[in-house]
Amino acid sequence: MRKYNSIVYRLTGMSFILLISTIGILLFLVNLQMDQHFSEYLQYNGAALTLPYSAHGTPEQHFMASVHHSLIWVGAAILTISLFISYLTARSITKPLCTLNEAAQTLKEGTYGKTVAITRQDEVGMLADTINAMSLQLHQNDQMRHHLFTNIAHELRTPLAIIQGNLEGMIDDVIPVNKTMLLSMEEEVLRVNRLVQDLRDLSLAEINELELHKEDTDINAMLSRAVNMLQPLIDEKNLSVQLDLLKNGCTAYIDKDRINQVLYNIISNAIRYIPEKSSICIVTDRVEKEKVPYISIRITDTGPGIAPEDIPYIFQYFYRGEKSRNRKSGGSGIGLALARQFVLSHGGTIAATSHPGKGTSFSILLPAGPA
Ligand SMILES: Nc1ncnc2c1ncn2[C@@H]1O[C@H](COP(=O)(O)OP(=O)(O)OP(=O)(O)O)[C@@H](O)[C@H]1O
Ligand SMILES: [Mg+2]
Repeated sequence: MRKYNSIVYRLTGMSFILLISTIGILLFLVNLQMDQHFSEYLQYNGAALTLPYSAHGTPEQHFMASVHHSLIWVGAAILTISLFISYLTARSITKPLCTLNEAAQTLKEGTYGKTVAITRQDEVGMLADTINAMSLQLHQNDQMRHHLFTNIAHELRTPLAIIQGNLEGMIDDVIPVNKTMLLSMEEEVLRVNRLVQDLRDLSLAEINELELHKEDTDINAMLSRAVNMLQPLIDEKNLSVQLDLLKNGCTAYIDKDRINQVLYNIISNAIRYIPEKSSICIVTDRVEKEKVPYISIRITDTGPGIAPEDIPYIFQYFYRGEKSRNRKSGGSGIGLALARQFVLSHGGTIAATSHPGKGTSFSILLPAGPA
């Protein structure tokens, strides 16, 4: 292990060397000046002469010696006080640094979430704040990782348990082998496959490694196509969908497949979570943000809305509102997380606003193509 020396000794040692040299030089200069000017003052033999110290009479020598002693004592006193003060100052810096080092060691050992109570308003305080924030962030990440694994395991276990149960039943001749059974098992396999694919895309998008094949794309055409694809579900719930699309220049520079998935996830959420006979309104526009042109897409529904306390979490992996937890109507809770990551990968933004009882609105900004 590397050997560490305390800053206290280094700072105190440096102060000692500096002070002792300063006092030494001062004593030497004062002695020199005294010898010269005292002799001039005495006007030896009526002329202004410079004599060595030994050539003075006893009273003069006593005076000079007393001046020297005073200087030495004052120097020693200043040296002692200064050393004491530099030792205390250095200690006051290194003591909290030791506490911070212990906190960093705890983080290194994998214990997150602990904070140190250092309330200083200086650089040490700044370092303490950073280490505390780092510890809390690591704790949060650790918990999210834990939840993520639990959720993935849960989402995979359910369809796999269904497939396993059916296969065992078929092997034991308890369940008949027919097309209906095979189709329902295939549905579960597709569900697992989709989840695995989504998780893969999500993790690639998070580290900016999602491959995007961007081209100028007409957003209005994409929205109309998505609504057409979802028309059977819209009709099933007797919903009305209103498209208020920008007349010209609604081109965005995007990866068509990825953004299609974003639009599909948000519109199908609206269809899934709003009651029968409600309505959905889709508006497109061309806007400027910090002088950069964007295509804005707003998808608003008149459904039950999302509770304000849930809004910050809806874009997280596997987050589902309480009512969406049932397997028949709700999904895995990954649709919006995927939408957010895909939009961010394009350099866009996505946000949700909701008024419980009145409805929800999702706003997306995507980099615009030529007007
Ligand atoms: N338009 C909406 N109205 C009301 N609640 C919504 C709406 N859109 C999303 N939510 C809420 O946000 C949650 C997260 O949505 P998300 O699309 O990520 O997951 P999901 O729809 O439950 O599952 P998945 O999309 O993976 O099939 C939903 O479970 C639902 O509670
Ligand atoms: Mg969804």
